Amino acid sequence: MLNFNFYNPTQIVFGKGQLKQLDALVPKNAKILITYGGGSAEKTGLLAKVQKELAKSDRQVLKFGGIGANPQFSVLMQAVEIVRKENVDFLLAVGGGSVMDGTKFIAIAAHADEFIGKERELLNFGFTPVPVENVVPLATVLTLPATGSEMNNGAVISDGEDKLPVFSAHTFPQFSILDPELTYTLPATQITNGVVDTFMHTLEQYITYPAEARFQDRTAEGILHTLVEIGQKTIDEPDNYDARANLVWCATMALNGLIGAGVPQDWTTHMIGHEITALFGVDHAKSLAVILPAVWKIRKNQKRDKLLQYGARIWGITEGSEDQRIDAAIAKTEEFFQSLGMKTRLADHDIDAAGIDKILNSLEKHGMTALSETGDISLQISKEILLAAR
Ligand code: NZQ
Ligand code: ZN
Repeated sequence: MLNFNFYNPTQIVFGKGQLKQLDALVPKNAKILITYGGGSAEKTGLLAKVQKELAKSDRQVLKFGGIGANPQFSVLMQAVEIVRKENVDFLLAVGGGSVMDGTKFIAIAAHADEFIGKERELLNFGFTPVPVENVVPLATVLTLPATGSEMNNGAVISDGEDKLPVFSAHTFPQFSILDPELTYTLPATQITNGVVDTFMHTLEQYITYPAEARFQDRTAEGILHTLVEIGQKTIDEPDNYDARANLVWCATMALNGLIGAGVPQDWTTHMIGHEITALFGVDHAKSLAVILPAVWKIRKNQKRDKLLQYGARIWGITEGSEDQRIDAAIAKTEEFFQSLGMKTRLADHDIDAAGIDKILNSLEKHGMTALSETGDISLQISKEILLAAR
């Protein structure tokens, strides 16, 4: 097992009706800014319920809506101005990954004194935490199970064709309310996204090379098995509480640091996927479903042992030569995505040879030229992956 430093301070309040805990959880005598997305929270009545809970104690409450999917720097800067002008002292994100991520950026940028007037530079730190100490405390009410943003300190922020990760030691939500019933209003396509994104987060921390990290492997496999068991059900039966509750908890646990502690991590699929989303507007999870099978095809040898383990333990593939078993594991995975209604080829999103060149240019521009668990996926190998994904 590799050395690790695991820290996660987010309080999780899980289950039916847990919105009622808001008044006790959010600071009193404080100025709160509720952040939300493009309209679903208003339409479903959730925003009004949140406001009602917050009104139970003495606090001032402001709202900022319009943080759309793949949150944009320019929109978030409008909220940053409000936080500064109104002296907001607590941010409450009500939404999915985009709202939660956007809120983390607002929290970082609001009082980042060294970056005032040049906040865009906060997006240049990649996986290194931004050097900002004075961050506005934040919490979340989750409406979309997928990203794990409700229990991690990462965000992904877009600025036109740039879609970039931002991390801070201080952006773990103080608490997150995870009520599966708040996700019933999601359209099926977003639930499919949630199942697949969660599957991908697990795989990016599991299909690498063996590290004798048995707890992490078995836990990752537990998440994968659960998703195979309940994925289709939670898409078909949106108000089946048990199926949805399992998806919500898997999504949170897949990217809160637990299964990634002490193991090598890949993230190639995510980094290429982010470029596809930024360039072509393909939903985050849908971009991953196209890239992951191609990564495995090109990286069969580097990932051999873990692909064999995955094939055997998740799909029961134990017959045939090693290469046959690996091919079967890749095919099974692609079939699983397709069975949920996911497309798995670039052509399904009308991305052609010129599109592949654009993706490669973006990878180069963003310094994504040494990807993978061993840092050896060059632009040339990314090109092979993209060609295999056509
Ligand atoms: O904007 P509104 O109107 O609220 O609609 C949203 C949005 O259109 C809608 N929605 C959310 N909750 C709903 C709902 N509609 C009905 N009922 C509800 N309960 O769903 C749409 C998609 O929302 P979004 O937040 O964009 O989706 P998701 O949670 O998949 O987040 C994707 C973003 O997270 C980033 C992605 O790159 C992308 O920008 N990621 C963040 C990560 C992290 N912080 O750790 C890791 C991930 O790998 C990912 O990169
Ligand atoms: Zn993801």
